[in-house]
Amino acid sequence: MSKKPMSVRKTSRRSKKIWVPEVFSQKTIRVIVNGKEYVRDVKPRLLLVDFLRDSLGLTGTHVGCDTSNCGACTVILNGRSVKSCSMFAIQADGKEILTIEGLAKGNQFHPLQQAFWDNHGLQCGFCTPGMIMQAYWFLKENPHPSEEQIRWGIAGNLCRCTGYSNIVKAIQVASEKIGVEQMQVEPRKQRMVRRS
Ligand code: FES
Ligand code: FES
Repeated sequence: MSKKPMSVRKTSRRSKKIWVPEVFSQKTIRVIVNGKEYVRDVKPRLLLVDFLRDSLGLTGTHVGCDTSNCGACTVILNGRSVKSCSMFAIQADGKEILTIEGLAKGNQFHPLQQAFWDNHGLQCGFCTPGMIMQAYWFLKENPHPSEEQIRWGIAGNLCRCTGYSNIVKAIQVASEKIGVEQMQVEPRKQRMVRRS
């Protein structure tokens, strides 16, 4: 009996499924994360959150559910908050990402981080990076929110510890202390160079 080539498996009379080794199906992506440019080969099915954590070592972005429910994986993608478990890394190609690691300036906390610290807006801290990134985006959209609006703004982020009161208070305090300009983090250090 003759052997079939390993790369070709017949699945039905009409179609043939061609097996492609993962190494050949990798794609090169170029992203700017926290002002720094990265070029990496990634598998098409690699989630953005796994790319950030495993490929770039930015483990401040957490994985809570992997099903876009908890918000622990929230980052800012081209100025908008996204749950990074709900998209592939290749979808971020050519884009800018801000993670929790990009908020502080050296040893100086971002005002939102300081407000969470001062107002006990965290207990175990698992939800905190996602909560702060969501609040960062939300306060840029609405710099002077009411308590109700804050609760709405973080409705997609779950916290199992705090009961939310101190989180809401921290965001309220941050919104009173900072202006929109102060919400900005450092300007880009590098410009994106698009591949042709
Ligand atoms: S890990 Fe992404 S929403 Fe929970
Ligand atoms: S502080 Fe523990 S989950 Fe929010």
